[in-house]
Amino acid sequence: MRTVDAVIRDRLHSEVTLVNQVSEYIINSGGKRMRPALVLLSAGCFGKITAQHHELAAVVEFIHTATLLHDDVVDESSLRRGNPTANTLFGNAASVLVGDFVYSRAFQMMVSVQNMRVMQVLADATNIIAEGEVLQLLNCHDADVTDDAYLKVIQYKTAKLFEAATRLGAIICGASDQDEAAMAEYGMRLGTAFQLIDDVLDFSGDSSEIGKNLGDDLAEGKPTLPLLYAMRHGTAEQAATIRHAIEHGGLEELSLVMDAVRSTGALEYVREVARKEAEAGCMAISHLPVSKYREALVELSTFAVQRKF
Ligand code: IPE
Ligand code: IPE
Ligand code: MG
Ligand code: MG
Repeated sequence: MRTVDAVIRDRLHSEVTLVNQVSEYIINSGGKRMRPALVLLSAGCFGKITAQHHELAAVVEFIHTATLLHDDVVDESSLRRGNPTANTLFGNAASVLVGDFVYSRAFQMMVSVQNMRVMQVLADATNIIAEGEVLQLLNCHDADVTDDAYLKVIQYKTAKLFEAATRLGAIICGASDQDEAAMAEYGMRLGTAFQLIDDVLDFSGDSSEIGKNLGDDLAEGKPTLPLLYAMRHGTAEQAATIRHAIEHGGLEELSLVMDAVRSTGALEYVREVARKEAEAGCMAISHLPVSKYREALVELSTFAVQRKF
């Protein structure tokens, strides 16, 4: 991971100062670096971790970083990784444009690996992420979205990149199609669990720990699973409050919505859905030979469910 970090720093460089300022700002804010870790851990399950893996791990983190720069503009978020968001400090225009820089730099880097399958996986993943974010935009303020529609959004916008990360590790090591598919399933399920918990933390987290503001999803009128569940299991009055909050956005009803989400057990329910998803992901790779890498993947999936940040 230290090598990956060196690659990240080396490849960020631009002759345009503002590009360096904004991109270094968000990269230096930290982040968990889960996706690059997945590339390396997946690779370790099948063979040697090579320079190509380090490069692709950085590519995946760049794609993630670019989506965060864009996402914080779209979501009008003001806090990320414990710091003011890039859009707050540098403005929306700079965030969108530097996001494009980071995103296209990722494509320059992936070409250097000279592997058509790698290009295909990353081209598909980035396209699906964009589709997911647009799908979510369409679902905003709609209190009647189904659980399946919600799941599709989180698989597209978040889990797809986790899947790509684990798939790439396997591809570069020349894993069999079957093993690559198993690793992809692990990544998809882990990413789904990860976003489910992200949506729980929006109600129950500690802002200083998660480094983001709570209630961001509600403010945007995003119909996340905790809300969908609480609407179905709360009193008629609670259901009406949540419906109103989704349809109109804003945080005026935050405390009433919080009460409903808590009293219906919605957060426990969603945590349990996440736990099962993560567990199914681990099952998908349980046939692989025992190794410290496979063990770390299992630990990472526990972290994704139990995390507080
Ligand atoms: C944030 O991802 C975006 C989501 C998919 C929820 P992370 O929580 O992995 O962000 P960093 O990189 O650790 O800041
Ligand atoms: C994260 O979506 C997914 C992408 C950035 C593509 P969210 O909007 O739910 O994530 P946070 O809460 O801002 O990290
Ligand atoms: Mg967001
Ligand atoms: Mg978003």
